[in-house]
Amino acid sequence: MAAPDTAKKKLFIKTWGCQMNVYDSKRMADILSPLGYQETDSPDQADMMILNTCHIREKATDKVFSELGRLREHKEEREKVGGKVMIAVAGCVAQAEGDFILERAPYVDMVFGPQTYHELPEMVLKANGNERVINTDFPAVSKFDLLPDEHKSQGVSAFLSIQEGCDKFCTFCVVPYTRGAEYSRTAAEILHEARRLIENGAKEITLLGQNVNAFHGEGPDGKVWGLGRLIRTLADMDGLERIRYTTSHPRDMDDDLIAAHGEVAKLMPFLHLPVQSGSDKILKAMNRKHTADDYRAVIEKLRAARPDIAFSSDFIIGFPGETDQDFEDSLQLVRDVRYASCYSFKYSARPGTPAANMQNLVHDRIASERLIRFQQLINEQQIAFNQSCVGKTLGILFDRKGKKDGQLLGRSPYNQSVHAFAKDRLMNHIVEVEITGGFENSLTGEVLKI
Ligand code: SAH
Ligand code: SF4
Ligand code: F3S
Repeated sequence: MAAPDTAKKKLFIKTWGCQMNVYDSKRMADILSPLGYQETDSPDQADMMILNTCHIREKATDKVFSELGRLREHKEEREKVGGKVMIAVAGCVAQAEGDFILERAPYVDMVFGPQTYHELPEMVLKANGNERVINTDFPAVSKFDLLPDEHKSQGVSAFLSIQEGCDKFCTFCVVPYTRGAEYSRTAAEILHEARRLIENGAKEITLLGQNVNAFHGEGPDGKVWGLGRLIRTLADMDGLERIRYTTSHPRDMDDDLIAAHGEVAKLMPFLHLPVQSGSDKILKAMNRKHTADDYRAVIEKLRAARPDIAFSSDFIIGFPGETDQDFEDSLQLVRDVRYASCYSFKYSARPGTPAANMQNLVHDRIASERLIRFQQLINEQQIAFNQSCVGKTLGILFDRKGKKDGQLLGRSPYNQSVHAFAKDRLMNHIVEVEITGGFENSLTGEVLKI
């Protein structure tokens, strides 16, 4: 590489959306590191700023444009004094609205989708030559085959994408369009990446995919492996202590995966299993291909396999055609399952999806009222679950400093945030903590053995 490329330059990445985007941002940092880019938390001094965007709901795009406005100011100020600053838009908004971004924001240098960021070195070269870059292909060769072997940007708790894209086509969702068709990596590739992450200090790995339990990667034995088999193999790796996976579809929860929850101690007893609605009529209109009772049955099987398992979910409130009764059915499903936590979103029409053409819209005021009622119930359940942990001793993986001096912050097996006073040397370790307080969004605890 020529000298200017190896000089230290600052890279600022802002990430929205799902964990896949978090993983992608880390991989972008890995790719740019040999070109001399070092990550920074602040855009002020950055030589390259990347917005890794999400297109899932309408507001997501608005946020990107308001953030771009701020970055433009930094760019102009720096360039006034002779610097060169590059602005890139990546991720799902870039994929869906790439041309529009280039047109509306002439100061943006590069636009690239989730499947092409491995080509960043070539793109940077072009942009350095003052060519505006747009790259929203779905290349035939997967980016995973071309990403660097370095995994410097992840710590004790790491993400590993094992599957990408989605063929389910829920009628409200942009993911099949922005991420493309479903694709599973090979087991050998995944195990290799897991080993590299562990060598780099990872004790917890979260396996990622838009439909992670639809994973069907080729195994080293030439057979197709499901997620259960992959998890059992990962669990044999020394140094790895915790395994999680997200996000799952209820239809792909097969018996082997359910059994793994009972048999694999390293698999954490917490599962994010989005259902979207408790009404069969709405589930059908969403093209979810399961009923509310199918979902209840999956939850029951998982509880039979692992009695202490806790659940979270996603619900969409105010989908076209949702009546008071349909909404009540969603509330009832929440009462039946008893979630540890739950996300709920007001339906947002996404251009190009089948639901965007549906006529029987729910009035925004009604959808907002339902959302408030829904979130009240969820908050009650979340507090109840967190309080039910008080008095228990849980293994906490401390991975950052707490707000107060002398405090560390970590995650319980149920993925709750736990604050405790603890020595710095306990950072990056799983420590036995007695839970002393349970609140809406976090727990407090006392370290048992110092
Ligand atoms: N693959 C996951 C979810 C991906 S998107 C799954 O199958 O469940 C994350 C969440 O965003 C979804 O679970 C859904 O609750 C929400 N979401 C997706 N599209 C939406 C839309 N058009 N309006 C509101 N919420 C939406
Ligand atoms: Fe979207 Fe449905 Fe695929 Fe999830 S399963 S990513 S909600 S289309
Ligand atoms: Fe958003 Fe794309 Fe993830 S739309 S939720 S960043 S797959």
